[in-house]
Amino acid sequence: MFTEKERALKRLRPIAKESESSPMREMMKMMEERKGLLSLSAGEANFDPPEELIRLACEAMRNDRNRYTSTNGIPQVREAVAEFVNGRWGARVDPAANILMTVGGMEAIFLASRVLVEKGDRVLIPDPGWGVMRTVLERLGAAVAYYPLEEKDTWVINHEAILARVDERTKLVLVNSPSNPTGATLSRQGFQALIEAARDRGFFILSDEVYHNYVYAGDHASSLQCDGLDNVVFINSFSKTFAVTGWRLGYAIAHPWIIRQMGIFKESISLCSFSVGQWAMAQYLPGCDGYLKGAREFCRVNMERLVARLNAIPGVRCPFPSAGIYVFPDFSRIEPSSEKLFRRLLDGGVAVAPGAFFGLKGEGRARLMFACPTENIDECMDRIETTLRG
Ligand SMILES: Cc1ncc(COP(=O)(O)O)c(C=O)c1O
Repeated sequence: MFTEKERALKRLRPIAKESESSPMREMMKMMEERKGLLSLSAGEANFDPPEELIRLACEAMRNDRNRYTSTNGIPQVREAVAEFVNGRWGARVDPAANILMTVGGMEAIFLASRVLVEKGDRVLIPDPGWGVMRTVLERLGAAVAYYPLEEKDTWVINHEAILARVDERTKLVLVNSPSNPTGATLSRQGFQALIEAARDRGFFILSDEVYHNYVYAGDHASSLQCDGLDNVVFINSFSKTFAVTGWRLGYAIAHPWIIRQMGIFKESISLCSFSVGQWAMAQYLPGCDGYLKGAREFCRVNMERLVARLNAIPGVRCPFPSAGIYVFPDFSRIEPSSEKLFRRLLDGGVAVAPGAFFGLKGEGRARLMFACPTENIDECMDRIETTLRG
């Protein structure tokens, strides 16, 4: 006998495959349940957000900034964002027309993909790359194909490898620079060449630059530094930059028509983005340079320490990432299956993100995050070393 509820449930068809669930969800559950487990698996900076930003957020809450904002975001935060991208990358954007504040970079990615991609469109994404992108695009019916990132002394995004795979059906190219999980970056010349090709051949670029602050060799090259941005949707977020992943606040910068379409769609999804965060960021953003520099230098020191310790383990190979907050070492000489590697490290008391989640090139690898207290890195590396040497 079915209860009334079960009878109704039988009429439903799944909208998501169980296999699409990100391993990060399982990991978070495991962290809650397993005492003593340490983690380098999180996809977020694990240090304090700026004290001043928190003060401004508290003040905003007390000053009754707790209500809906306009869908595109309060003018003050869009102006602050326009100044921020102008100051960093010389980008001239109209806060009223070119910017949409979103629920994290994630909503910006979803809305942009929804506007840019139709069923059957070919979309190029990086391998290795952030696994969530494949899910988002496949749910929209895209035919997803990979372009390879290149592992040399450090990981790089080669625009020629991308352009060699663009064909008539290609509608969208995803660039994630700095990349999750490799830290690979695309040069300014690479961006310019891609953007020119996009204009000439009629495709779009989704440029996910949420890790822009974490560049250790030179300055961050942004799509916003290039000419001809009509074919680009720039994605950014405050999540990783200011260690406020839970605020869910990000933004997209694009052509006014694309921003209008995204905004209208957003109305029926989230209505507006986190009001308190918008008010606080509007005031904080103009003076954020000191914090950003401190966060970057902290991560650089941790990264160097982590890479040195990994490379000291026989059979492990880990190039220095030139950017980002992760390393993506090759453990394949010790354990060719990323799933088995993940289980083995877990048994040794350390959670990492399994390499296979990041694409075909992820087998035999794992992603380790270094934007965390240095003691955590040391303790995790002691355990990893013991596990793998044993
Ligand atoms: C490459 C990349 N883009 C976008 C996001 C989304 O971040 P958020 O929605 O917190 O801004 C993430 C989160 O891990 C990411 O790794």
